[in-house]
Order: sequence, then structure tokens, then C-alpha cells
Amino acid sequence: MQTLSGSLRRSVVSRHVYSALRYTSSQASSSSNQNNPKTTSFGFQTVPEDAKEGLVKNVFDSVASKYDLMNDATSLGVHRLWKDQFVADLKPGRNGSLRCIDVAGGTGDIALRILDYAREKYADRETTVEIVDINAQMLKEGYRRFKQTMYHNTPQVSFHEANAQELPSEKFVDNSYDLYTIAFGIRNCTSIPAVLKEAHRVLKPGGTFACLEFSKVNNPVLSTLYDQYSFSIIPLLGTILAGDRSSYQYLVESIRKFPPQPEFAQMIRDTGFRTGTDVDGGAWTELWGGVACIHTGVKL
Ligand SMILES: C[S@@+](CC[C@H](N)C(=O)[O-])C[C@H]1O[C@@H](n2cnc3c(N)ncnc32)[C@H](O)[C@@H]1O
Repeated sequence: MQTLSGSLRRSVVSRHVYSALRYTSSQASSSSNQNNPKTTSFGFQTVPEDAKEGLVKNVFDSVASKYDLMNDATSLGVHRLWKDQFVADLKPGRNGSLRCIDVAGGTGDIALRILDYAREKYADRETTVEIVDINAQMLKEGYRRFKQTMYHNTPQVSFHEANAQELPSEKFVDNSYDLYTIAFGIRNCTSIPAVLKEAHRVLKPGGTFACLEFSKVNNPVLSTLYDQYSFSIIPLLGTILAGDRSSYQYLVESIRKFPPQPEFAQMIRDTGFRTGTDVDGGAWTELWGGVACIHTGVKL
């Protein structure tokens, strides 16, 4: 916990009002005056690239303490099934213990499942997971949660505050991990190619990249129902349960801005990973008709 504790002390949970998460046009023009013409999406807004990280950080500062509760409420518990399948498909521990890195790991949902799966299925107590997140508040919630588990204070889990796009290379060394996971995190990053490049760098040759992310629903009926649910119910639940509509509005919008399955699969291949072919069951596995999707690649 050496890495985390200093930043946790510095960090303060901020309670956000709507305006705190909106990038105003005056901010935009002052930033573009500073010769920074590159833009990116923050939900449905277009913002300067260098502003996105701070805006995303505000979102997760705001939702951290309610994150697990809200995940259950907004997905009606379905995120648990998706995460179970994500980890079960990877079969951690089957061929011996693994060194894993869970990036944008938040409160540790994936890390806990990896460790539990390896232990329960294969009696593996050697697999390790390093949980990496840019947000100290999310890590703090994860640390608190792991305190209740048998992994607390063991070498099996550790917490690290870092940016997925530029993992410090002295700590996250080239060719050092068997498994890299990122769940519901990559769409929040400013540059997806930069995240993929770092994943490729830290994985051993033959290591696996696995991403669980919201994706594109191709069935028009399901897509309409899903849009209605996400744009009306999720921000409403954010207001009622977390007192924070705008963060949940952003989370829904960011899902729609994420590249569709074939485009993301191509980005993974362009980074140097081998994937299956561009069909459901090949390069990706769709969950609930594409509401979420698992993408995997193997480092060549
Ligand atoms: C929706 S949460 C997902 C948390 C966890 N993986 C899960 O599935 O429950 C997204 C996480 O991505 C983190 N994040 C956003 N941008 C990041 C970045 N550039 N580098 C590392 N983590 C980032 C956020 O702080 C947040 O904890």
C-alpha cells in the first residue's frame, strides 16, 4: 500500500454539482487560445484532449463511495454476471499461477474475481493481481473492501495509482505480466491506442489482453429499449441514489461514443495482438446482444 497511501491522504472526496462536470464554452475557448486544437469526446461533449482526464477524475471522485451500490442498481445486478463470465472465460490458475494487472481496476471487482476463481477452482494461492487506477478514491474503496478478504496484507494483491496511458515503466516493467485486464475502464481514457500500447508493452509475449466494455447493440428493437433505459432511468437513479445526475449522464453518453466491435478489434490488432476473426465468438464475445462485450488478444 506504499504507493497508494500518500495520495489517499492528499485526496479529498468532492461532492459535485452538475456544473462541475460540464466543460463550459468559456473553458473551451480559453484552452483553444492556448494552442491546443486537439479535441476528444467527454460523453457527448467535445473537449480539449488535455481536459478529459480531469473531467473523468471528477466523475469517479464523485461516484466512488456509491460506485458498487450504483453498479448494482443501474445494471439490476447484471454487471456481476458479466464480470463472472469475463473472469471464468480467462480461467486464471488453470495452467499455473499468473501475474496479472487489472487496469482501471476501481474498487477491485475483477481482481477479487480473479483471485477467488484461481483459488476456488485450482487451489491457486500464488496468482497475483496489481490493481491500477488513476483515481485514488476508487482505489481507497477497493482497499477498504479487500481488507475484509483473505487477500489483505498478502502479496496476492496491491494497489497502484497510475494512468493506463502511461504506466510508469520502472514499476510496470516491459514483458512482465501474463494477463492484463481492463473492465469498463478503457472508454474513459483519452487515448485508447495509448492504453493498448501500454498493455502490449507490459504483457509477456504470449500474454493475454482482455477487455470488458459496453459496446454496440445491433438489434434495433433491443437498441431502442436499451437507449430508453439508459438515457432516462440511469441518470434518474444517479439523482435519487447518489445525488449526482451528471456523472451518470456522462457514463451513459461515454458508452455511445465507444467504437463498435469490429473497429475496436482492429485497434487491438493494430497494436500487435492476435485476435480471432471479426465475428461474435471470434475477436469478441457479446453479452446481452452487445450491451457489453469481451475483447481478447494475445501478444505476439
Ligand atoms: C467504470 S469504472 C470500472 C472499475 C472496475 N474495473 C469495474 O469494472 O468495476 C472505470 C475506472 O476507470 C478509471 N480510469 C479512468 N481513466 C483512467 C486512466 N486514464 N487510467 C487508469 N484508470 C482510469 C476510473 O478512475 C474508474 O475507477
